[in-house]
Amino acid sequence: MTANHPHFSFESHEKSLENKVILVTGAGDGIGKEAAIKYAKCGARVILLGKTTEKLEHVYDNILELGGKQPSIVPLDLSGATLSHYEGLADTIASEYGRLDGILFNASILGNLCPFGQIKESEFDEVIQVNVKSQFLIVKAMLPILKMSPAASVVFTSSSVGSKGRAFWSTYSVSKFATEGMMQTLADEYKNSHIRFNSINPGATRTNMRAKAFPAEDPSELKTPSQIMPTYVYLMDDVSRGINGQLLHCQAGN
Ligand SMILES: NC(=O)c1ccc[n+]([C@@H]2O[C@H](COP(=O)([O-])OP(=O)(O)OC[C@H]3O[C@@H](n4cnc5c(N)ncnc54)[C@H](OP(=O)(O)O)[C@@H]3O)[C@@H](O)[C@H]2O)c1
Repeated sequence: MTANHPHFSFESHEKSLENKVILVTGAGDGIGKEAAIKYAKCGARVILLGKTTEKLEHVYDNILELGGKQPSIVPLDLSGATLSHYEGLADTIASEYGRLDGILFNASILGNLCPFGQIKESEFDEVIQVNVKSQFLIVKAMLPILKMSPAASVVFTSSSVGSKGRAFWSTYSVSKFATEGMMQTLADEYKNSHIRFNSINPGATRTNMRAKAFPAEDPSELKTPSQIMPTYVYLMDDVSRGINGQLLHCQAGN
């Protein structure tokens, strides 16, 4: 049964991800923060990448308070980082941990939701840089250390507008289609290897991004990041080794 099944319930335990080395982008807030903490609670060594250092430090403290293994913090703005930054990070991970077992590509920006003709070129470039190009550069830099893992899992984050376009969702929707394309291309290329590539559609989840997209909505009616974690752990756990090139939905109906 995959997470697409409405009754999917994967029960993680404190050793599910024991000693796995996992890089989480956008680890300072929202779903990424919750995933980083959950991975650490399941025994992983997490590398927290994000834009705002104070948020990453807060997650770092949370993990230590919960008895997790000491994480690493990588303050980096994906809108300006280049391949050499990511290659430097890969070298550091290789010397510190000897391999990389997982990447959760979670960081994204919404951009402005507006009519297509009103998208500013600079905004289009920024959303594509943060949501798409940074992922290409990170995969390129990390492939050598993913290959050092006995079973590596790369998880992208999609959206319902990454499979079906929606009016006014502008560059964000385009970026999520591109993310799906990147995941499927990599999954096919590496299908005979020990690296798997999948994506997650979290569905409507109570975060800052959701509040920006739907300001009139009552957030108390939405799932919290913690409620959608089973899919996030499942794809990093070795139990999902046979899953490749799939889009998993955390919530039925969206
Ligand atoms: N929430 C939903 O309902 C929903 C639904 C479908 C898909 N998603 C997807 O789920 C993922 C997480 O979304 P979320 O709702 O948790 O969003 P969020 O609360 O806005 O968190 C986004 C995270 O990405 C980081 N980030 C943004 N720009 C960055 C940059 N230039 N460099 C480095 N880090 C950057 C943010 O860091 P700072 O806080 O430091 O800026 C933050 O930690 C996204 O890919 C989103 O598209 C969410």
